Amino acid sequence: MNAQSRTKLNHTPEWTALGKHREQFGQTHLRQLFADHPERGAGYILRVGDLYLDYSKHLVTDETLRLLRELADAAGVAELRDAMFRGEKINTTEDRAVLHTALRAPRDAVIEVDGENVVPAVHAVLDKMAAFADRIRSGEWTGHTGKPIKNIVNIGIGGSDLGPAMAYEVLRSFTDRSLTVRFVSNVDGADLHEAVRDLDPAETLFIVASKTFTTIETITNATSARNWLLTGLRAEQDAVAKHFVALSTNAEKVADFGIDIANMFEFWDWVGGRYSYDSAIGLSLMIAIGPDRFREMLDGFHLVDEHFRTAPTEANAPLLLGLLGIWYGGFFDAQSHAVLPYSHYLSKFTAYLQQLDMESNGKSVDRDGNPVEWQTGPVVWGTPGTNGQHAYYQLIHQGTKVIPADFIGFAEPVADLLPGLVAQHDLLMANFFAQTQALAFGKTPDEVRAEGVAEELVPHKTFRGNHPTTTILADSLTPSVLGQLIALYEHKVFVQGAVWNIDSFDQWGVELGKVLAKKIEPVLTEGTGGEQLDSSTAALVAAYRTRRGR
Ligand code: F6P
Repeated sequence: MNAQSRTKLNHTPEWTALGKHREQFGQTHLRQLFADHPERGAGYILRVGDLYLDYSKHLVTDETLRLLRELADAAGVAELRDAMFRGEKINTTEDRAVLHTALRAPRDAVIEVDGENVVPAVHAVLDKMAAFADRIRSGEWTGHTGKPIKNIVNIGIGGSDLGPAMAYEVLRSFTDRSLTVRFVSNVDGADLHEAVRDLDPAETLFIVASKTFTTIETITNATSARNWLLTGLRAEQDAVAKHFVALSTNAEKVADFGIDIANMFEFWDWVGGRYSYDSAIGLSLMIAIGPDRFREMLDGFHLVDEHFRTAPTEANAPLLLGLLGIWYGGFFDAQSHAVLPYSHYLSKFTAYLQQLDMESNGKSVDRDGNPVEWQTGPVVWGTPGTNGQHAYYQLIHQGTKVIPADFIGFAEPVADLLPGLVAQHDLLMANFFAQTQALAFGKTPDEVRAEGVAEELVPHKTFRGNHPTTTILADSLTPSVLGQLIALYEHKVFVQGAVWNIDSFDQWGVELGKVLAKKIEPVLTEGTGGEQLDSSTAALVAAYRTRRGR
C-alpha cells in the first residue's frame, strides 16, 4: 500500500487485531509461557551469521508473532525495503535515496541512483582510503617536519563521530596499539584541549569528518586544531596538507577550509550521517585496524543486509526485532528500550545506537505530514551490563515501567586478553545469563517466604519478573560481528519506521536549536539582540554575562 492511500496505522484491521490480542494476553506471565511450551527456549531463536538471537523471553506467542507479521505485510515493509535496496528516493522529505547498503556491496554489484551505478565509486573511495591507511600505518606518510604520523585525531560530531569512535573502542584488540587515536566532537574547547594537550603536532594527523562541512562544532574545532598545529610547528598554511584530511560530500567547502581536495575522501548524499561509519567516515577506524579488517567488517554488514533482504518473514531477524519494539510501544506503552552489552569494548555501542534509532525514528508526523496517533521511536539507553547491574537495574527489576532490553554477549573473550584475565569471562557471562533469567521469571512471594524471609519484607524481596528481553550471543567480537550487529540494528530501525509510516532518514528536529544558537551567540559576546529573547532565556543570558564580567 503506498503512503498516500494508506489507512492510518491504528485504524487498520491488523492493528485492531493486535489490540484485541493484547487484551487477551493480559498479564500472561513468561513463567506460564515456558511451562506451556518447555521447548520454547530452543524454539524461539534465530541464527544469522555469527549471531544467535534468542527471543523466547518476550511477551509473545506464535499468535502474537503472526499478527505482528501481518501488520508488517499490510504496512508494506518488504516493498519499502526493496525500494531502499534498489536506490529509490525513499527519504521523501529530502528527496534522497537511502543506500548505506551500497557502502558494503561487493565490487561487482550494480546499484543505481538516477541511472548511475554507485558501486564503482564506493570501491574507488575504499581503495583510496586503504592506500592512505597503509601509508600512515607503515610510516611512509610523514608530517611537515618529516616525522611519521603517530596520532590520529578525528574531528566530527553526530554521525561523523559516534560511529568511528564506537567502532574504534569495540575493535581495540584489532588496532595498531602504537597509534594514538582520539575523537573530538564537543564544541566545548575542553574536548580538543584534552585530545591534543600531550600530542606532538609534528606526529599528528587531523581527520575532519563532516558530511556537509558546515557543522559549526566541527568547523570551529577544525579551525582551532589548525591553529594549534601551525603554532606548534611554527609553520605556515602549507603544512596543513600533511596534517589534515577531510571526509565529506562537500568538496567546495573542504577546499574553502584549506584542505587539498586530493586529501578528501568522498561520500554521497544518499548516505545518512548516522548510517555513514562504513563510508569514508570510517577512515580513522580503517587506519587503526587496517584495511583488511575494515573490509571484514563491511562483509559482516553485507551478510545481514542480504539476510534482511531475502530471509522469510518468520526468520527475518531485523523484522522480528522491529516488530517486537512496535508491540511494546504500541500495546504496553513502553517508552524506552535498553541496550545492555556484556562487553567492556561495547561501552560506546548504546550511545551510537541512540543516534541511529532516536534521530531516525524520533518523529511525530507521518510521511504525509499528518500527526501520528501511535508511539514512535523509544528512548534508547544503556551502558555495559555489569556496571548497570550495580546502578539502574533495580528499576528494571522492581520499578513500575515496561523496559524491553537487549542483552549482547560473546562466547569468547577477545583474543589478546591477558591470559590471567581470561577466567573472568565466565563470571561476566554468568551475570549475562542470570540477569535475563531473573528479569523473565522473577521470584514469587512463596519462593521468598520459603527462604524464611519475615512477612513484612516479602513484598520488598519479591521480583515480579515478566520483563521482556532479547539475548544476542555472538561467537566473538570480530570486525565482521560488529558489522553484523550494526546492520541488524539499522534494519530494525528501518522496519519500525516503515510500520509507523514515518521518514526515518531525515532529521529536521535538530535544526531549530542550531538556528537559535546562532542568534544567541552574539547576545552572549556582544550583548546585542537580546530584546528578541523570551524572558527566561533573557534572564539566563544576563546571569551568564554577569558571571563572565560583561
Ligand atoms: O545535527 C544533526 C546532524 O546533521 C547529524 O545527522 C549528523 O550526523 C551530524 O549533524 C553531523 O553532520 P555533518 O557530518 O554534516 O557534520
